[in-house]
Formats: sequence, C-alpha cells, structure tokens
Amino acid sequence: LPVPAPDLSTCSTASLADGSPIPFNCCPPLPKKDLTNIPTYQLPSVSKLKVRPAAHSVDQDYITKYSTAIQRMKSLDKDDPLNFMQQANIHCAYCNTGYKELGFPGVPLQVHFSWLFFPFHRWYLYFFERILGSLIGDDTFALPFWNYDTQVGMQMPSLYNVVNSPLYDSNRNQNHFPPNVIDLGFTTIDLDATDEQKINNNLTMMYRQMITNAPCPQLFFGNPIRGGEQPIRGMGTIENIPHNAVHRWVGNPNNKFRENMGTFYSAARDPIFYAHHANIDRMWTIWKTLGGKRHDFNDRDWLDSAFLFYDENRNLVKVTVQDCLNVEKLGYMYQDVPIPWRNFRP
Ligand code: C2O
Repeated sequence: LPVPAPDLSTCSTASLADGSPIPFNCCPPLPKKDLTNIPTYQLPSVSKLKVRPAAHSVDQDYITKYSTAIQRMKSLDKDDPLNFMQQANIHCAYCNTGYKELGFPGVPLQVHFSWLFFPFHRWYLYFFERILGSLIGDDTFALPFWNYDTQVGMQMPSLYNVVNSPLYDSNRNQNHFPPNVIDLGFTTIDLDATDEQKINNNLTMMYRQMITNAPCPQLFFGNPIRGGEQPIRGMGTIENIPHNAVHRWVGNPNNKFRENMGTFYSAARDPIFYAHHANIDRMWTIWKTLGGKRHDFNDRDWLDSAFLFYDENRNLVKVTVQDCLNVEKLGYMYQDVPIPWRNFRP
C-alpha cells in the first residue's frame, strides 16, 4: 500500500525526538472546504525552465528579489497558510508526528528515515518557491542551492549572513559563520583539521555517499515505508551525510535541540533550510545520471504515496511521488556547475 496523505482533521500536538510535546501548535491552517474531496494537483504547463542558481554566485539584484519575497512571506497574516511560519510548520507537522495517515489513525506520518525523504522535500520546495515567486509577481523566481559539494560553496553562503536581512537567522552556530569551512560529516564536535583537509574530506564523503555506497535505489533513497507501517525504516546515504550533518552544523548548539536548523520542528524557520534542501534535491537529479542501477524506484507503493500542500493560490492540493520525478516537468533545473567529487575516488 502507498503511504496516504495526512488526515488533516486529526492533526495533533507534535512531539520532539525524546517524546516530549512541542509547546505550540504546528498544524497548518485547515481549508474551509470539504476535506474529503481534495483535488489532485495539475502541473501547470512549462514554457521556460527556471534555473536554480548556486547561492554563492548570485548577484545583488537576485538577493534583493529573494529578500523581498521572504520579507513579504513573513509579513502575511499569521493564519495565512502561505505565511513564512506556517510554511515552516508544514515541516513540523510532517516530521514530528503531528499528522496521522488517512485511514490509519494510529500511524504518525514521518517523512524522514525512509524513501519518502527525497520526494516530500522536492514538493515542499516546489510550492515554497512558487509562493515566493507569486509574492513578487515573478514566476521565473527560483530558489538558490547551497553548493557545499564544491570548494567555493563550503561556507554559509554570504547572502544569509547579513544581520537584519530577512534571510538571516540569529539561531545558528556563531562559530560556523564564514570563513569557517563546513564539515559535511559534522556530528557535534568541530574537526581539528586544516581547511584543505576538511575540503578533501568533504569531497571524499560526497563520492562515497553518491557513488560507492549508493549503487541502487534503496541505498540512495532509503528503505521502503508502506501505508499503515510505523515510520523510521532506515535512511538513505545522502539523508544521513551530508543532509543531517549540515542541519547540525548550522543549528545553534546553545539551544537544547540545536534550534533552528538542528531539529525538525524548527528547521524550516531558518531561510537557509531551503537552500540546503535545494542542494539535496539537486543531488537526486545528479545521482540519476551516474549510471548503473541509479534510477528511481518503480514500486507502485512509492509512486502512489501522497502529500498535501497549499499552492500559491491557497488551494489545498494532493500530490504524488510519481508526479515529481522529472524536474523539468516541474518547471526547473539547476545551474550547471562543476562537480569536483565526481572523480574523487579515495
Ligand atoms: Cu525535512 Cu532537512 O529535513
């Protein structure tokens, strides 16, 4: 069975990794319409692909547009499903057991630690990007990706580090601001290594997670989860490193759960989250070009698994994994940049 969309009517208090309840309600607002008849999203036709740029390479015009869009999103009514905090709450509801599967009332949804990880986040960014574009009247607007798999991208991108910018978040690890070089395998302790060693380690890890250790769909995407099964089945290579490591590296170690980026319920309150996930999404597109058995699953349970999102017109829609496999159909591509880890065989 595919994992069904959440039952919006039973969204409840979400909880933290240690089981304690999250002290605020992160259920996104309910639509006024009939919950039993949520339409399937129709992909708009694409005339020209948007290009998601590398965050370290964007110009001032782009930064102005992007900041304006985020500022407008933050200024929307707090109960507007398109409000920035409500968008962040989507992540909380889908990751901290707020939502239950429709038809399986005892089964919480958890979009991490399984094959749902890549498709859920792809759709999440897709709508987030369209909402930003509509707030500035620019349907060519594309999110940046944090290109930490190449040397020049291995720092927090500078556009996120301007205090008072809507792209800034004070809840980050202050020791990891530029010029600190990221450790893509970060646990909780800073490496005692030179920048050059860290860069080499990072490229080695990328090679391992993308190529050596991910020769087939299950190792790359994570283990199957089917409708009615309890979550946390086992994550894929990339979800672990660099994905989880980057979350921990950015989050503020002075907070109990390394909020914001270091824990699911608050991660998407940091605008850098979306640049991090754009790069993770980019890894999916690259992985499929690496040959061998590196292709999407053709298991119906994966393809028919579903999620719900508000589109940029505030219509609640249902989407499936099947409909997100081809990014060009979704209307975007990634800026073509060098991939130094590709030939970085240890
Ligand atoms: Cu849903 Cu990077 O986490």
